[in-house]
Amino acid sequence: MDPSVAQAYRALNEAQNAIRRADTLDQALQEGLRVLMRGCDAQAAVIWYGDGSDSGDGRVHPYFWIGAPDLTSCSHALGVDVVGRVVLTQESERYLTFAEANDPATVCDFRGVDVTSMFCVPFSGGDAIRGCIQFVNKADGTRFTIEETDVCEMMAMVAGMAVEDNERLQPSWHHGETIMEIRGVTREFTNGDVVTRVLKGVNLDVFEGEFLVLLGESGCGKSTLLNILGGMDHPTSGSFKFCGEEFAQASQARLTDYRRDNIGFIFQSYNLMPNLNARQNLELIASLVPNPMNADEALEIVNLGERKENYPSQMSGGQQQRVSIARALVKRPSIIMADEPTAALDYTTSIEVLEVMEKIVSEGTTMIMVTHNEEICRMADRVVRMRNGQVYEVTVNRRKAHATDLVW
Ligand SMILES: Nc1ncnc2c1ncn2[C@@H]1O[C@H](COP(=O)(O)OP(=O)(O)OP(=O)(O)O)[C@@H](O)[C@H]1O
Ligand SMILES: [Mg+2]
Repeated sequence: MDPSVAQAYRALNEAQNAIRRADTLDQALQEGLRVLMRGCDAQAAVIWYGDGSDSGDGRVHPYFWIGAPDLTSCSHALGVDVVGRVVLTQESERYLTFAEANDPATVCDFRGVDVTSMFCVPFSGGDAIRGCIQFVNKADGTRFTIEETDVCEMMAMVAGMAVEDNERLQPSWHHGETIMEIRGVTREFTNGDVVTRVLKGVNLDVFEGEFLVLLGESGCGKSTLLNILGGMDHPTSGSFKFCGEEFAQASQARLTDYRRDNIGFIFQSYNLMPNLNARQNLELIASLVPNPMNADEALEIVNLGERKENYPSQMSGGQQQRVSIARALVKRPSIIMADEPTAALDYTTSIEVLEVMEKIVSEGTTMIMVTHNEEICRMADRVVRMRNGQVYEVTVNRRKAHATDLVW
């Protein structure tokens, strides 16, 4: 047997096992997709689904993707484009060289990815859900073979059967309005003759009310991206819109207003004023914003009602971090951005802080949290992974864990 086919069959077997082991369907599909992608050596893979019911919007939406740019806002009309056609007809389409595709626009949603080889296999399950799995580009630059695409088609059938067997699958994925839209954002730093390219074309959407966790190796550009989203820095190029307004090249004054009116920041170091007690630290911020929350109320939210008079030196790290969360809340921000808020804390105090974050999100605030801690991803609505200045994976968590369930 062709070694690449043998490899693909091994992947099929492995993916089947991953699906059997998985506790939830999401996990099954995610693991299955990952194994399969490795099996056929694809650079990117996407599960698209269409809500086939009458109440659906008649479009096909991305469900999971790996190795692709952020596809969240993408959708295809049923029957239109490769993905829409495969979902409607439930027949595979294979462009082993992309030059064979008669309409290159079919994969235009793969922004920034040069598509050379692609195939799309149907995926069906239950009455209401019909979708497909799209595989894009072999990692080694060669083309997918027919045999590989056949194995993947079989795998999609296996995954589809898992969907039918699992009643927990919800037919649609609900998220809030898009409040931030980041497209092709780059950031370069120039020191003398040396130019460091840190962000290399980031695409991302942020939805109202979601808990988004941003993960990636040290130096990959997480804080740089957060600073741009928070209006503390300008991108070198690209677009950053908040509620439809372009901020990429906004004036300092406009950015200051944007920060003041919308964003609360929480950092790894608490940055509290040492000579002010907890309440005074909050009142200092409250005096700068138009419609502040009462300082006492904010301290109650973070469970520090009893510690209002304490100075930072009289509080534990976890308590100080909770004061800094309360300080962010005083502004009544629509979005909280937290850069490694628990990195300096031990396990127990980290959980205390995360419980507060969970409460804030449950009350409607959008949260973007940078962390190194994989376990915290379990609390998130979506996990965005960055590598080398780009987003390379966005996954949706449909079964969120509570802060108190996390263990490390
Ligand atoms: N002002 C600057 N001038 C030059 N290089 C910078 C500047 N700010 C950041 N960098 C570089 O950009 C890269 C990304 O930095 P960034 O702080 O965004 O990483 P990070 O993903 O947040 O890392 P960590 O997990 O360690 O906090 C690093 O290599 C850093 O040295
Ligand atoms: Mg950082």
